[in-house]
Amino acid sequence: MNKDFLSILDISREELINLIAHARKLKEERKVGVHTPVLAHKTLGMIFEKSSTRTRISFETGMYELGGHALFLNPKDMQLGRGEAIRDTARVMSRFVSAIMIRASRHDEVIEFATHSDIPVINGLSDREHPCQTLADIMTINEWLFRTEGIRVAWIGDGNNVCTSLILSTILTGMEVIIASPSEFAPKNEIVSEALRMGAKVRVVTDPGVAAADADVIMTDTWISMGQEEEVEQRKKIFMPYQVNSDLMSKAKPGAIVMHCLPAHRNWEITDEVIDSKRSAVWDQAENRLHIQKALLVRLLA
Ligand code: CP
Ligand code: NVA
Repeated sequence: MNKDFLSILDISREELINLIAHARKLKEERKVGVHTPVLAHKTLGMIFEKSSTRTRISFETGMYELGGHALFLNPKDMQLGRGEAIRDTARVMSRFVSAIMIRASRHDEVIEFATHSDIPVINGLSDREHPCQTLADIMTINEWLFRTEGIRVAWIGDGNNVCTSLILSTILTGMEVIIASPSEFAPKNEIVSEALRMGAKVRVVTDPGVAAADADVIMTDTWISMGQEEEVEQRKKIFMPYQVNSDLMSKAKPGAIVMHCLPAHRNWEITDEVIDSKRSAVWDQAENRLHIQKALLVRLLA
């Protein structure tokens, strides 16, 4: 396995299968109170340039449950916030902690951190990818639909960071992704063409009904990602036809499930009725962040 986990493609198909199998075991063990301290005396430094609920809590709880420790680091309180170079911070942190998780505005910063660290670096969300989310999403699809091969996922809304990791993941899983986005918010052409060249199964359309037709999974994300708060009114107007509601769900396969990485703006990108329905895998999707990241930490650190 690569030293770092910056992109969903930093793992192979086989490693993905192993991570999911391990995560399922950890999930079962946790239910009956079994925790093996395989990461005793290991520390994860977690740098958050942006807000987080799930990523922070799941990594911190995960390290604790594995017998290790996690440090929450706000760059504003670090010398990083006063201009200390990323490369110097990375070198120094490598002498203290066992791994770094970073949530950064720019993917370049995550790469720079990894380049100058001697220890594993995990991408906890960047403007390009959110690979930890995609790991949990694949685990959840496996739990609900018992396979990924041949599964048709309709991504409805913004072609953002979460969407990019999903697109790239089809190379590992054999899923097919059809993205319905307003044309100005479609995933970048270079990402789609690079993914297609590597064997991804991805198609981009503008009509959400076309994407949803016969889908096994309807997936969406916020219309306003972190840092886009000034564009709320404009985005809300453009994305409203892309709302995941009962009408859109009725176009998918009868047993289709709905997913959202959260946080959700209820009744914007997804209605209360849909997110709270029996077809919503959203809460398992959030929970699985914990189990799959524990498996990832063990793989990178044990
Ligand atoms: N899905 C996700 O990463 O949530 P947080 O922003 O709360 O970490
Ligand atoms: N696309 C969202 C995901 C949040 C988990 C964002 O970048 O804010």
